[in-house]
Amino acid sequence: MSRRLLAAYVHIPFCGRVCPYCDFAVVAGRDDLTGRYFSALLAEIEMEPRAGTIGSVFVGGGTPSRVEPNLLGGLIARLADRFGLSDGAEASLEANPEDWTPERADGFVAAGFNRVSFGVQSFDDVVLAELGRVHTAADARRVVDRARAAGFDSVSVDLIFGTPSESEDSWVATVRSAIDLEPDHVSTYALTVERGTELGRAVAAGGAGPDPDDQAEKYERARTILTRAGFEHYEVSNYARAGHEVQYNLNTWAQGDYLAFGLGAHGHCAGVRRRNVRRLEAYLEMVEDGERPEAGAEEVTGWDAELERVFLGVRLRAGVAAGAVGPALAGDPDGQALIMAGKLEVTDDRIIARDPLFTDAVARVVLGLPAPEPPEERDA
Ligand SMILES: C[S@@+](CC[C@H](N)C(=O)[O-])C[C@H]1O[C@@H](n2cnc3c(N)ncnc32)[C@H](O)[C@@H]1O
Repeated sequence: MSRRLLAAYVHIPFCGRVCPYCDFAVVAGRDDLTGRYFSALLAEIEMEPRAGTIGSVFVGGGTPSRVEPNLLGGLIARLADRFGLSDGAEASLEANPEDWTPERADGFVAAGFNRVSFGVQSFDDVVLAELGRVHTAADARRVVDRARAAGFDSVSVDLIFGTPSESEDSWVATVRSAIDLEPDHVSTYALTVERGTELGRAVAAGGAGPDPDDQAEKYERARTILTRAGFEHYEVSNYARAGHEVQYNLNTWAQGDYLAFGLGAHGHCAGVRRRNVRRLEAYLEMVEDGERPEAGAEEVTGWDAELERVFLGVRLRAGVAAGAVGPALAGDPDGQALIMAGKLEVTDDRIIARDPLFTDAVARVVLGLPAPEPPEERDA
């Protein structure tokens, strides 16, 4: 049997309330389905071929921290039984501050988690209210110490910048408050307006949305403050103290294989990308009928796989191996324009986005690069 190292993502869709900006596969007010959902998850894990050992697992949402720790413990145990967990495997839990009592924090450690990522978003109660969050800044100030007391090895805080009511001072105070809690890792995300969300509808109807210039300014302020505080800016949106980079994400950006379980989950294994259905009833019924809850799958091979490798890897501050994409990017007019503007560096070995604010622009150019012609056709 192959003992390749894999990552695994497990999606828990339950929330107390759906945030107005969120377009993940989530449901509010359906906690009555939790038991049925976990039975389905365990059954879905049994349907997955044993392709390797799990080196990192990420349980995201939704709001996994709403669920009873023993259910999550059963989930980790089932993954360990079926695939095995490597020594010291990272096991990450996404958690919301309002759920984080000392008892539950202990329960999540007993369930097998060693890393927690808190959806704090802001330390400004006005901004939190606009984001539709249930917790307050005071709730958020308690979470890191409680996670440490429970025994988590690595603690992260997620922040969102660019909410319309957020001033520059409010954002700077949020970043400083996060640092004061002494987390090991901080993620900063620009508020994104997604179609089909409450925020998306409000903005389409003429309501206030985030301002790109304000977001660019806030991104840079956070970068300066966090790097001065000793965090390494290792990926566009992510900062870590040495040794606390997220293994699960590093695997994804390195185009590693990851299994995916649960509602709307996406996986990538042995050149095949697959995604699960996003409707809860459909997910439950398919798994209960013994079917994989797949909405679609596609093979990613050849040049497309090569473009995907660079598209993902260019998010890392250290860049990505150039391979055959390097010459194609350097020879492309849009690629050249980015190089001339100092936003992109392409050497014989590496492709590096020099300005993190232009990473998406670089990635878009990469995805549009045509496959190079084979040499014999050029000679003909
Ligand atoms: C799947 S969400 C985590 C859900 C978690 N229950 C919470 O409420 O924070 C992961 C992170 O993505 C970020 N996020 C989600 N939607 C976003 C959006 N539209 N714009 C910017 N960041 C977003 C948030 O920082 C969030 O913590």
